[in-house]
Amino acid sequence: MAEWKIIADECDLIEGNPVEVIINNKIILLIKTHSLVLGFEGLCPHQKARLVLGTFDGEWLHCPQHQAKFRLSDGLCGPGWVLPSLKKYQTKVDNGKVLILFDN
Ligand code: FES
Repeated sequence: MAEWKIIADECDLIEGNPVEVIINNKIILLIKTHSLVLGFEGLCPHQKARLVLGTFDGEWLHCPQHQAKFRLSDGLCGPGWVLPSLKKYQTKVDNGKVLILFDN
């Protein structure tokens, strides 16, 4: 069953500076962009590179290892690759806390 979990303090997130958070043994990538906090699985679906070491350009998140890219709006893998979408978590900010809808 999915449940909202506090994952970070909003004040600890810097615009354009992704961070990793580990929750229930899963690595979650948080990206603050345009004042929104986005949450994704933190490992690339290709060969499990840590996406926190990649780059993002406002529309795409680029894997640091082989440069597959994933769309920030929905996690869809970009052209040139046949990979599953990057799991995107629902997020919200409440009272300065960042929460994700976590479904194990
Ligand atoms: S590990 Fe990400 S593209 Fe290969």
